[in-house]
Amino acid sequence: MEPSTENTEEASAFAEAVESSKFKTIGDIAFYRRQKKLLPGNSPYRALLDTLELSDCRAKLQLLNEENKVPLFVEVFVLKDHMIRIKVNELKPMKPRYEVPDVIINEPVTQRLTLVSKDGLSVTLTTVDGGTQILIIAKPFRMDVRDQGEMSVSVNSLGLLYFEHLRKKSQFEVRNTRGSKRKRDTETEKESEEDLGLWKEQFNEFIDIKTNGPTSIGLDFSLYGFEHVYGIPEHTENLRLKTTSQEEPYRLYNLDVFACKLYSRMSVYGSVPLLLAHKPKQTMGIFWLNASETLVDISMNTESKAALGKTKKLKTDDDPLPRTDVRWMSESGIIDAYVLMGPSAFDVFNQYSKLTGPQALPPLFALGHHQCRYSYKDENDVKQVDAGFDIHDIPYDIIWLDIDHTEGKRYFTWDKTKFPFPREMQEHLRAKDRKLVVISDPHIKVDKKYPFYSEAKSKNYFVRDKDGEEYQGSCWPGMSAYLDFTNPVVRNWYANKHGLDQYEDSTDILFVWNDMNEPTVFDGPELTMHKHAVHAGGWEHRDVHNLYGFYQQWATAEGLIRRSGGIERPFVLTRSFFAGSQRYGAVWTGDNVAEWSYLKISIPMLLNLSITGISFCGADVGGFVQSPEPELLVRWYQAGAYQPFFRNHSHTETKRREPWLFGEENTRIIRETIRERYALLPFWYTLFYMAHTKAEPVIRPLWVEFPEEANTFAVDDEYMIGEALLVHPVTEAGVREVNMFLPGTGELWYHLRTLQRFDGEQTLPVPVSLDSVPVYQRGGTIIPRKTRVRRSTKDMETISYALYIALNSENSATGKLFIDDGHSFNYRSKNQFLLRRFSFKDNTFSAVCADERGQYCTDCLVERVLVMGAARPSCVTAHCPDGPKSPIHFTYDVKKSLLNIESLRFNAGCDWMLKLHY
Ligand code: GLC
Repeated sequence: MEPSTENTEEASAFAEAVESSKFKTIGDIAFYRRQKKLLPGNSPYRALLDTLELSDCRAKLQLLNEENKVPLFVEVFVLKDHMIRIKVNELKPMKPRYEVPDVIINEPVTQRLTLVSKDGLSVTLTTVDGGTQILIIAKPFRMDVRDQGEMSVSVNSLGLLYFEHLRKKSQFEVRNTRGSKRKRDTETEKESEEDLGLWKEQFNEFIDIKTNGPTSIGLDFSLYGFEHVYGIPEHTENLRLKTTSQEEPYRLYNLDVFACKLYSRMSVYGSVPLLLAHKPKQTMGIFWLNASETLVDISMNTESKAALGKTKKLKTDDDPLPRTDVRWMSESGIIDAYVLMGPSAFDVFNQYSKLTGPQALPPLFALGHHQCRYSYKDENDVKQVDAGFDIHDIPYDIIWLDIDHTEGKRYFTWDKTKFPFPREMQEHLRAKDRKLVVISDPHIKVDKKYPFYSEAKSKNYFVRDKDGEEYQGSCWPGMSAYLDFTNPVVRNWYANKHGLDQYEDSTDILFVWNDMNEPTVFDGPELTMHKHAVHAGGWEHRDVHNLYGFYQQWATAEGLIRRSGGIERPFVLTRSFFAGSQRYGAVWTGDNVAEWSYLKISIPMLLNLSITGISFCGADVGGFVQSPEPELLVRWYQAGAYQPFFRNHSHTETKRREPWLFGEENTRIIRETIRERYALLPFWYTLFYMAHTKAEPVIRPLWVEFPEEANTFAVDDEYMIGEALLVHPVTEAGVREVNMFLPGTGELWYHLRTLQRFDGEQTLPVPVSLDSVPVYQRGGTIIPRKTRVRRSTKDMETISYALYIALNSENSATGKLFIDDGHSFNYRSKNQFLLRRFSFKDNTFSAVCADERGQYCTDCLVERVLVMGAARPSCVTAHCPDGPKSPIHFTYDVKKSLLNIESLRFNAGCDWMLKLHY
């Protein structure tokens, strides 16, 4: 969304005004008000233990709501890879309730549960290996999970299981929540019915008609021993989640919130309903698979250890143990929750990725530097900006076209006045090894002469309103219809529209940006689609809302893959997302503002995305709204260069922002910053391969790397890139010194520029000038870099590598390097890749193959090895498997304990060794 005000300086104030009037506050959400009437400790649910059925894959039993006598059933699955799934649905719903499809990529293998004991009060179940025990208490219903003898999680221990059964309107009884049982006269009953928003809910001028009546569900989980929780993006909040006892809950409801307010738990553009909990010896996750509007309450409590039923009473049993209670509330669907038992953070990442799929491996160019603006005016503008990068010797890979490149915001078309020769323009970019990204939004201009619209209309591919007519709302093109991406037939059709023969004047260097896909409806409630709009299969928009953007990005990515005959990896950026969106491309944080506070918040926002599966994420460099002062812009480039998706983007009403417009010195610093990004691309690319294959987040909160060090748990102004780099971007004006926290007892850290060494477990005052940003390499790691930088990733293909070896206190280090063609799926379809493992141990460096499946021929050499923290050797020899050993020339810097070996000529795909002799 853009402000209607001309004065962008007032954008923030404007945005706040927009927020307060256009968006709901928590009190406006009826299902929340209803659920909050159920207070802890009053659960009406009883487990009917006699109904217990055990099968190969699950335990199933009925739950009875003793107030309204509606039966539910609960299913418990113990899954391979240390996960538990809990499903609750109505035993006999009037019609099916929505169960989220397409997000889980493979139904995980289940383990058999056997009965340990059963009496009238409870049953105990166990897995065959005894590792997981499940105690189900009948009244009120509660489920305790013990893992390796330790109590880890309880379900409904607060009694907040909530399930509004489907009903006919006439059947409605006000007695559906505890505490509202008293008899009422018809008048008050009617009032209260409206007040609770059961069949109808009003917000501003918008009326939400609920054909299915109230359908809300909720459940609480108690996590024992945990007091640090993270995740559930997207919010403009700190990394570590806060308690919500006195405050609003975290809301997950994808919305277009322009210049969103900071430190708010209300929703922004995307949702991943995955919460992570961490304590020194364990990380866990709860994945709440529900795509309707969802609210999450978090409270920190304590529990006496004795109460957890330890068998032997210990002296410490009366000490309180921290406990985090998480209450999930959703507007519709069923309860379907996965508990990811870890025990390490990396286990949780892996478990989650088994469920929702891996981060897609981006084409290498997508990790380069992206140049965007709303909007580059015409072809000439594009060519001039492109040339500017060469003139100023600044690398970049992709230039972006926003909505104005189209004919009247009709996607898949070109404005022929501004872009008369789009093909020629693309060829111009191709000749420089660069690419083009164009925007393609989900709203389609209602215009019978626009073939895209009329075809989709004739095929019935748009979302319908509640009366069965085409749902229409206003967006960039004016009145628009919205493609129903939840329908596989529509996705298939839409994907095909990206074919080179269908998308006029597109070429294979054109990639796509899906925006406004929450979806934005300017004249809709909260600027989005009415919840009573109807999708394929008759599902209400209410049920699928948070999936809309996920489906569009999927269809687009599929289209780009198909366009290449299944050979090329796509690049698609999306604004709206859900769990699983990582499979289709990148995500950015939407319309931020050119203010220091927005630069600062980008770090925790990106970290929470990264630990919930979405590694390929970034924030608009410079801030989208308003024009940044040069210092802010420079600092933002420095931060962005160390974030996964690196794109400069600016609003149409801001001043032009190409990096050479801010004076020579600032241009120089920005150039150096971007060049450093390009030099480190082999490291970034390898990390993406690890994210893709091993679910390791590319950027990570400190606690992930230092899980036992409590002083890392709340840090969110610093983070790790992989396991090797520690970054502390400068996010305040006029800073001359940064308090750099170097974590880790016994760790060593090396300043990336000066290569000076420091001990871990200290906070260091680090002087900074405008052209420096504190980045440290961790002792024990090896980072592959390129020795020279050129104007694009493609141009750097043959540039040789340098290996930066940072020794730890045991004088050792390890690292990896992934190499393939950088753009195709051949790495997996034909094993055309190399995964190299580097290690330094016992004064010997070795480069070996880390994955025997990989076969790829590269001409690239390793030219330089730098060993930080080494003692001066008397001689260095090189060894190849079939070559003679030969002494190697080196230099040594005593002050820095730095060994520098240059002019090497080892092929990056070969095994070789260096020996340091003393
Ligand atoms: C939205 C997007 C922004 C884009 C603009 C015009 O505000 O978030 O990035 O430039 O729309 O398409």
